[in-house]
Amino acid sequence: MLAATLLLPMSALSHQPTIPHDVPPAYQAECGSCHLAYLPSLLPESEWRSVMRQLGKHYGDNASLDETTRLQIEDFLARNAGSRRLMYFGAGDPPRLTATAWFQHKHKRLPTAVWSDKRVGSAPNCAACHPEAERGLFNKFDVTVPSGYWGDD
Ligand code: HEC
Ligand code: HEC
Repeated sequence: MLAATLLLPMSALSHQPTIPHDVPPAYQAECGSCHLAYLPSLLPESEWRSVMRQLGKHYGDNASLDETTRLQIEDFLARNAGSRRLMYFGAGDPPRLTATAWFQHKHKRLPTAVWSDKRVGSAPNCAACHPEAERGLFNKFDVTVPSGYWGDD
C-alpha cells in the first residue's frame, strides 16, 4: 500500500519548492532583510512582476530599489517562477504566497489561531516553524510549531 502510494505521480499540490542556482546576491540582501527571501517557485511570473512593480507600497512597507537592482531581481524571479497554475489560485492583490491554494492545502491541519500567535507573528514568517527555511527546506517532519498547536498538547 505504501509502495503504491509512493509510485503515484506527484500532484500539483504536493510540489516541494527548491532554491534556484542563479540567485543574484542582491536577492538575499534586498528581499531577505525584512523576511525570508522567498523561493521564486512559490508564485507564478505574473504575480512576481506585480510584487516588483509596487515596491514603493509593499504590504504597508517601502521596499523600493534602484532600477538596475529591481530589474535584476524581477528577471530572476520571473525566470524561476512557478508554472503550476493550480497551486497559486487565490494569491490575491498584492499577491501573497500564503494566500494560495497550495499554501492553504499544505497547512490545513494547523488551527487558525497559530498564525496570529506572537511567537509566529504572521504566516509569511516561515522560519518561525520551519528551522531550515533559509536553506529552502520545508520538511513536515522538521517543524517547530509553538507549543499548544501541533501534536504536543
Ligand atoms: C522594508 C522591509 C521589506 C523588504 C525590504 C521587503 N519586504 Fe516583502 N514584505 C514586507 C512586509 C512587512 C510584508 C508583509 C508581511 C506580513 O504580512 O506579515 C511583506 C510581504 C511580502 C510578500 C507576501 C508574503 C505572503 O505570502 O504573505 C512577498 C511575496 C514579498 N514580501 C516579497 C518581497 C520581495 C521580492 C522583496 C525584495 C524586492 C521584498 N519582499 C522586500 C517587508 C519587506
Ligand atoms: C505556524 C507554523 C508554520 C508557519 C509560519 C509556516 N509553516 Fe509550513 N508547515 C507547518 C506545519 C506544521 C507543516 C506540516 C503540516 C502537515 O503535515 O499537515 C507545514 C508544512 C509545509 C510544507 C509541506 C512540507 C511537506 O513535507 O510536505 C511546505 C512546503 C511549507 N510548510 C512551506 C511553508 C512556507 C513557504 C512558509 C512561509 C511562507 C510556511 N510554510 C510557514 C507549519 C508552518
